Amino acid sequence: MKFFIDSADPTEIAEAEAMGLLDGVTTTPSLLKKAGLGREEALQQICALLTGPVSGEAVGPDVDTFIAEGLALRAIADNMVVKLPCNEAGLKACRHLSAQGIPVNMTLVFQPVQALLCARAGATFVSPFLGRLDDICSSGMELINEIRVIFDNYALSTQILAASIRSPEHVKQAALSGADVCTVPLPVIKKLLHHPLTDRGIKAFEADAGL
Ligand code: E4P
Repeated sequence: MKFFIDSADPTEIAEAEAMGLLDGVTTTPSLLKKAGLGREEALQQICALLTGPVSGEAVGPDVDTFIAEGLALRAIADNMVVKLPCNEAGLKACRHLSAQGIPVNMTLVFQPVQALLCARAGATFVSPFLGRLDDICSSGMELINEIRVIFDNYALSTQILAASIRSPEHVKQAALSGADVCTVPLPVIKKLLHHPLTDRGIKAFEADAGL
């Protein structure tokens, strides 16, 4: 499974990159607002930090706006991926941009047939949101399992990008369900390494080594 970071903060992204774990980045308008940078400025800085795919979200009410936004995003850097919402306008824009060879990440996917439609429209990635489903007592893991079965049934090459990851348990669920990619916030990436027995063992070995 590939690891992306779910962040629009260039400092956080550089930190994850230094850990040697970073295959790509996902951003949203909300993450850009939190980072306090303008969209173009932030995405330019982020795209310069790595060669892997960086998703930037197109916003707009209709297909034409999504396409124009997508082309503008793609002009920022060669590793930009256009993120589009999983609705009718998003699907049409996905078909149009994908046909031009522009990679698209279809976001806000909450049921498996949405993912099938996105794959048929040529999406490079689909983003099922685990955490937001778990928030409403639905199963994010089941959603990824079902998308995996559907994509395998029809040999669809669209990558399943597990998103809305809130905990190490979500990362484990994504990996067990066969997600191709998991996009993880930095605090969760850091938690992935921790286990109380590892920490206790390190302390004991340090003490025995006279440190
Ligand atoms: C993915 O692209 C989104 O940024 C994201 O994972 C949403 O996470 P949230 O549900 O924690 O806001």
